[in-house]
Amino acid sequence: MKKKLIIGNWKMHLNTHDASVLVHRLHITIPVHRSVEVVLAPSMLSLQPLSLEIDRRQFKLAAQNAYYKDEGAFTGEVSYDMLRDLVHYAIVGHSERRIYFNETLEVVREKTAAAVRNGIVPIVCVGDTSQERSEGESKRVVHDQVTTAVQNLTSEDISNIVIAYEPVWAITTFDGVVAKPSDIQDMLAYIRSIILDLYGAQAAEDMLLLNGGSVNPDTAAGYFSLPDCDGAIVGGASLNYKSFAAIVAAAYQVQHENPDNGGQ
Ligand code: 13P
Repeated sequence: MKKKLIIGNWKMHLNTHDASVLVHRLHITIPVHRSVEVVLAPSMLSLQPLSLEIDRRQFKLAAQNAYYKDEGAFTGEVSYDMLRDLVHYAIVGHSERRIYFNETLEVVREKTAAAVRNGIVPIVCVGDTSQERSEGESKRVVHDQVTTAVQNLTSEDISNIVIAYEPVWAITTFDGVVAKPSDIQDMLAYIRSIILDLYGAQAAEDMLLLNGGSVNPDTAAGYFSLPDCDGAIVGGASLNYKSFAAIVAAAYQVQHENPDNGGQ
């Protein structure tokens, strides 16, 4: 019975007051569904207050980033160890961190391992830029990103990670090209095949794979119906409670139509 996982990545938006207002609206608008897990990724500053405000049956929290050392003289950083009682998930290797903050494949690998070591499920983001896509390099790029990120993980660890395909060309604030469901399916199936080669059939089948490009209330159901798409990581549309609720409702609808996916 496989759930759908929907992450709202609020990026660097909303102060603590506005974050609290949004959570209040989401509480009222989004019902609890057994088959759909809803995760909110506010700014680091809002994690603590929101952890006291949220109904944990309804929402779980994710950090958008953290540093891979558990403690030490690293001014300005917060470790996964410090976040372990606060969040269930952490976004790792988002393209904005790779591009704007120069996060290398190796840094993403260290962060993935640090999250797992601290009992936090990393949502490892991988994705190709429009240039890589036009040069026919998409699969090579994603292959390198996936294999490096999981390099230090055991077969037991692998059941505690999620991978999101975020085509950089489809992120609203980069190129914003609407990704065709077939583009997403093709890459998610490829990512599953990489996990199958490395960790076997069961690990590949159990792993949750998300789409992180072009998800909004109009496109969501088309992605959620894909055989290899287990949910979404949503940017802009997660800042509006009606849009985000509509995306969660689309996930529920797809689960309900396909009870094998864990519906009802
Ligand atoms: P948008 O949904 O705004 O395109 O952003 C996608 C994303 O980066 C999610 O992490």
